[in-house]
Amino acid sequence: MTGTFITFEGPDGAGKTSVLQALIPRLKAQSQVALNLTREPGGAKISEKIRDVILDPANTEMDARTEALLYAASRRQHLVEVIKPALAQGDIVICDRFVDSSVAYQGGGRQIGTQAVLQMNQFATAGLEPDLTIYLDVPVQVGLDRIAAHQHERQYDRLDQESLAFHERVHSAYMKLVADNPMRIVTVDATQPLGSVVTAAEAAITKRFPSLFG
Ligand SMILES: Nc1ncnc2c1ncn2[C@@H]1O[C@H](COP(=O)(O)OP(=O)(O)O)[C@@H](O)[C@H]1O
Ligand SMILES: [Mg+2]
Repeated sequence: MTGTFITFEGPDGAGKTSVLQALIPRLKAQSQVALNLTREPGGAKISEKIRDVILDPANTEMDARTEALLYAASRRQHLVEVIKPALAQGDIVICDRFVDSSVAYQGGGRQIGTQAVLQMNQFATAGLEPDLTIYLDVPVQVGLDRIAAHQHERQYDRLDQESLAFHERVHSAYMKLVADNPMRIVTVDATQPLGSVVTAAEAAITKRFPSLFG
C-alpha cells in the first residue's frame, strides 16, 4: 500500500461535508498525485444497500450490535472496492467518516463497548488505519443546532431520533480516541467560521505530508 489515507471525523453538524467540499479543490491544486474524495458507503453498490437498511427510520427494532456489524460490513465492501485500489496505485484517499465513527457512535453512543467495536472493525479492515485523521470538534449542542437550522437540506434518518445524552456519549468517545491516538488524530476547532476551519485542515494535511503537496 503506497498511497495516503486521510479520514475526517467529528459529531453530526461539525462541518465535515462542508469543509471537504471547499478543501478538496484546494488540495488538488497542490497535490503531486491523484486525490480521491469518498464517503462511507461511497460508490459500492452492496455498501449502499447495507446503509439503506441501517438508516431506514422504519427499522426501529434494530439491535445495537446488528447496527455495528452492518456498518462494519458496509465499510469492508467500500474499502475493498474503492479505498484499497486507489491506495494501491499511490493515490491520496480522503474519506468522510471511518472506523472512529463506529467506535464513537456504536461503541460510545449505543454503549456496546468501544474496545469491542474497535476489534470488530479491525477484522473488517484487516488492520488498515488512516495515516492521518482530522477531527472537527464542536460542542454537541452546536452541531445539533447547525443541523436543526438546515434540516430542510438533508434527509431525516434513524440516528436523528437519538437523545442529547446519546450525542454526548458519542462526543466523549471521540475525546477518548483523540487522547489515545495523538500521532494519528489532529483536532481542529470547528466552531470557527467555515473558511478558518478549511484553512486549518489544509495546513494540518500539507504539513503532515510535505512531499505530496506544493
Ligand atoms: N464552521 C461553520 N460555521 C457555521 N456553520 C457551519 C460550519 N460548518 C458547517 N456549517 C453548517 O452546519 C451544517 C452541518 O454541516 P455539515 O458539513 O453537513 O456537517 P457534518 O458533515 O459534519 O455533519 C451545514 O448546514 C453547514 O452549512
Ligand atoms: Mg456530513
